[in-house]
Amino acid sequence: MIEPFETLPDRVTIYEVGPRDGLQNEKGIVPIEAKADFIHRLLASGLPVVEATSFVHPQWVPQLADAGELMTLLIGGDLGTRGRKLPVLVPNERGLDRALELGCEHIAIFGSATETFAQRNLNRSLDEQFAMFEPTVLRARAAGADVRAYVSMCFGDPWEGDVPIDQVVQVGKRLYDLGASQLSLGDTIGVGTAGHVRQLLAAFNDVGLPNDALAVHFHDTYGQALANALAALQHGITTFDASAGGLGGCPYAKSATGNLATEDLVWMLHGLGIKTGVDLASLVATSTWMAGVLGRPSPSRVVTALSGEQDGTMPA
Ligand code: HMG
Ligand code: MG
Repeated sequence: MIEPFETLPDRVTIYEVGPRDGLQNEKGIVPIEAKADFIHRLLASGLPVVEATSFVHPQWVPQLADAGELMTLLIGGDLGTRGRKLPVLVPNERGLDRALELGCEHIAIFGSATETFAQRNLNRSLDEQFAMFEPTVLRARAAGADVRAYVSMCFGDPWEGDVPIDQVVQVGKRLYDLGASQLSLGDTIGVGTAGHVRQLLAAFNDVGLPNDALAVHFHDTYGQALANALAALQHGITTFDASAGGLGGCPYAKSATGNLATEDLVWMLHGLGIKTGVDLASLVATSTWMAGVLGRPSPSRVVTALSGEQDGTMPA
């Protein structure tokens, strides 16, 4: 028998971003009880890490303005979520103070590879963003927190067009070198394609970032997210960001749509014999429930296929 993918890993880590990247982009504000339930259910389906919310300015992202109350419920409450890996986005020291006060142990900073998106998303220039992140990371590390760093617009920017690989690598390495344990490469508007993914990953390897320091974060605007994930997998990446039900987007990135759906990723990985720890049926049930909360069907192909099955109808 031909083994087409004999060099793939046995297991990968899915870094779930639905409650943060998904819900930050909703028109309406999801009730806090539903958010807590969502996170609880995602963890119960076997996801090892669930990015829960953002300690950004509440007027910039009102959808997540309840971050403090939510983390209090999750960390201090009786939901079975205490002690679980629940990272939160933090842009600056003010956000860090809010997160640390509540006992958050995993934070994620988020930088931009382009000038325009740095201005629009962070109200800072490309250079100024580092002045904001540097003390944030230093203080987070001193407090014992783990820090992930995102770099956005790695594959293209809606205002600037193509983004040179050298520019992405320069920004990403600088963010990582502040003291992050992992760098997540964001295709914020979903324009990347598989060859570009391999080139960017190789360029990061060339400046000393090994594959286990890198994660990939794909949005599915052009239907490329799963192909890009396979390209990254073949390159040796073992951490994949994904969003249950394919929720997601960035309110400050024109044309950003949903993330790679966690269910679509799990279907592919399990099909390749790669372990994720995720119970797909339970995850699909969660996304189907969340689609009901949001009042519209999930864009995930796997959720659509399998939730039809759960309703008693055969998947098409
Ligand atoms: P700013 O207006 O420049 O803030 O916003 P500032 O530093 O000038 O402070 C102004 C006031 O805001 C001060 O209050 C601060 O205390 C307060 P005052 O003294 O006037 O009373 N303030 C805060 N309050 C609460 N929490 C805070 C905070 N910070 C300042 N954290 C800022 C700068 C970075 C805060 C703002 O631009 C912001 O919140 N941006 C976040 C935008 C965002 O969340 N975007 C979506 C996430 S990124 C994404 O989705 C991409 C990703 O998925 C990867 C990918 O797909 O590529 C991660
Ligand atoms: Mg994103």
